[in-house]
Amino acid sequence: MRSFIERIDYFKGNDPEELAKKFGTPLYVYNEDIIRDRMTKVANVITKYPYRANYSCKTNTNLSVLKIAIETGLNADAMSEGEMRMLLKAGFTPDRIFYVCNNVSADEMKFAIDNGITVSLDSLDQLKLFGSINRGGSCSVRINPGVGAGHHEKVVTAGKKTKFGISEEDIDSIFKIAAEYDLKITGINQHVGSQFLDPAPFLAAVDNLLRIAMRFKDLEFIDFGGGYGIPYHKLDDEKEFDMDQFSREFTAKLDRFVAEYGSAPLFKSEPGRFCVAEGGVILGRVYSIKENSGIKYVGTDVGMNVLVRPSMYDSWHDIEIIRNGSVVGREDGLMEKVTVCGNICESGDVLCKDRELPVVKDDDLICVLDAGAYGYSMCSSYNTRLRPAEVLITSDGTAKLIRRRETFDDMFALYDFT
Ligand code: LLP
Repeated sequence: MRSFIERIDYFKGNDPEELAKKFGTPLYVYNEDIIRDRMTKVANVITKYPYRANYSCKTNTNLSVLKIAIETGLNADAMSEGEMRMLLKAGFTPDRIFYVCNNVSADEMKFAIDNGITVSLDSLDQLKLFGSINRGGSCSVRINPGVGAGHHEKVVTAGKKTKFGISEEDIDSIFKIAAEYDLKITGINQHVGSQFLDPAPFLAAVDNLLRIAMRFKDLEFIDFGGGYGIPYHKLDDEKEFDMDQFSREFTAKLDRFVAEYGSAPLFKSEPGRFCVAEGGVILGRVYSIKENSGIKYVGTDVGMNVLVRPSMYDSWHDIEIIRNGSVVGREDGLMEKVTVCGNICESGDVLCKDRELPVVKDDDLICVLDAGAYGYSMCSSYNTRLRPAEVLITSDGTAKLIRRRETFDDMFALYDFT
């Protein structure tokens, strides 16, 4: 139950109140050491065979985060032309980018092809489209292994009830289309879902994909997708994903496959959340406290436009209260049940409901933990609100502005007002 931000000195000696005053709230604040540590961990999951972790940049495409991913030796996966462009601008070479798209136009596919980026095709139709614009080319196919996993129905990305991938029953059709367009299937990939702390479903899906891989000859790579979870309930001592144990079990499965397949293709995974979630928090300001029908509402500037996960998936994010630069301890303060909400005109604009927190006062800061993944990257300008700034606490303790707050001029620049 001890404060996370104090225990690990998250702000590295910077006063969060000063950061809030200097850069304004709401404010994303990242910690470089944590991001580096997690990225290094995923880079070394498999050491016995050729292995690469692709950082799944949909979680956080901030330029500084991408540069850390390059420095820690990660490749990256992209989901859109925008993500490919961002990765190229950050310095990823095309051979380090994997484009895992679905339902895209020929133009978008062509962007990948023209830039030498490997494409994963998510349906037979998309495979045909790829063949028609790149006859004789090479590609990967995304397999839907028939089972999925994840923290919420909306993040399960495999199984009978999702839009993703090509079913195992259609593998013969893959070969037929490949022959028709003279395509070389150099890789297969999957992604079963997101945020699992128990590695069992992922490992079961590894077995499944390796079994399917036996049907493909001369694979250059097999990509098992992402999904490693993080402890969102860290103030309640939730335990972390056991990377060491996972790594041993994963390797044992690859051992059996390599013996049977006769060679070791490049093995890959696509972690996103694990790399960045814990290395990001949001600082927000409390502007109003009121009671409606017996419920105490803490009104802040951290709306669903800034962090949509609680509204979208009922996701839990731990919250710490900061007063005059110091964390208000749970052990030394009075606790009360409150509902913390944002400043958006939606009743679903709620960060947490009936949450036991130290008694909050006007002008306190809230610090929303584990916001580095699917935080800023899912921001919106709903209610014509500006996207927040992002600050990185670098390894030497400097608080560096790594993306400025949006301005109204940025927002209105899309219109012709004449
Ligand atoms: N690879 C593919 C093809 C994916 O679709 C995803 C995530 C990943 C890798 C990375 O998964 P991760 O390691 O981050 O779990 N917005 C939701 C999560 C959606 C995940 C979508 N795909 C959330 O905030 O929980």
